Amino acid sequence: MMRMHWLITVINRRIMKLLVALGLIAYIASVWGTYTNMRSIQEHSELKIEQRIDEAVAPLREKIRDLELSLTQKYPPVKFLSEKDRKRILITGGAGFVGSHLTDKLMMDGHEVTVVDNFFTGRKRNVEHWIGHENFELINHDVVEPLYIEVDQIYHLASPASPPNYMYNPIKTLKTNTIGTLNMLGLAKRVGARLLLASTSEVYGDPEVHPQNEDYWGHVNPIGPRACYDEGKRVAETMCYAYMKQVCLIVF
Ligand SMILES: NC(=O)c1ccc[n+]([C@@H]2O[C@H](COP(=O)([O-])OP(=O)(O)OC[C@H]3O[C@@H](n4cnc5c(N)ncnc54)[C@H](O)[C@@H]3O)[C@@H](O)[C@H]2O)c1
Repeated sequence: MMRMHWLITVINRRIMKLLVALGLIAYIASVWGTYTNMRSIQEHSELKIEQRIDEAVAPLREKIRDLELSLTQKYPPVKFLSEKDRKRILITGGAGFVGSHLTDKLMMDGHEVTVVDNFFTGRKRNVEHWIGHENFELINHDVVEPLYIEVDQIYHLASPASPPNYMYNPIKTLKTNTIGTLNMLGLAKRVGARLLLASTSEVYGDPEVHPQNEDYWGHVNPIGPRACYDEGKRVAETMCYAYMKQVCLIVF
């Protein structure tokens, strides 16, 4: 009987030990499970936060890259001019043949140049090497519409110059040379700027005198196919003289 009791006690003890061991293993497993679960939640939320930061920062990174590019962009050499000597110059038709070369010259001389062009015959690529330079501005604008900016000098070149271009839309050519010139003279008057008009020998029409001097008035057919340009430039000259005489504007 005693032996039996002893055997049961021994077995119970072993079972107890086994149960305790199993309980310990279960506890460790549950603690480990919770820990890994929490870790994965934490990692997931960290990943989300990182993603959001990346999304917010991406446009800023792009802006910085653009800025770096513009800072490292090479421009042709530009002279330094003091505030007193540096002029604010407007060139209408500045993306055209003559205008773009004038832009180069005035930029390299150290002036602040604003090019205004409607890109009818001119092209952005003619002046693109200045885009981003602190002294340069390019405005897509039609001179037939008024323009309000502050400048010291105006080079008024906007007008198609070759016969196929100016005959393509005669009414527009007339508007550009008349209303466009009037707008530029009005601007020059308002801000006290000097104005240079790019006229043409076409104002003499089909001349009877060779070579033509400034006293010669010309021989123009007012209803011919070239009249939109010839007469447009003649009116432009007349307007310049009227502004010069009436409001003492300095016109070249
Ligand atoms: N090239 C010559 O041999 C010559 C000779 C005499 C006079 N000109 C005069 O010199 C000036 C420039 O001539 P170019 O040879 O450089 O011609 P161009 O056609 O190359 O340039 C004229 C510029 O004026 C722009 N323009 C035209 N209409 C405009 C408008 N309404 N608003 C804004 N911009 C406008 C054009 O897009 C172009 O960029 C013209 O006024 C022309 O009459 C030129």
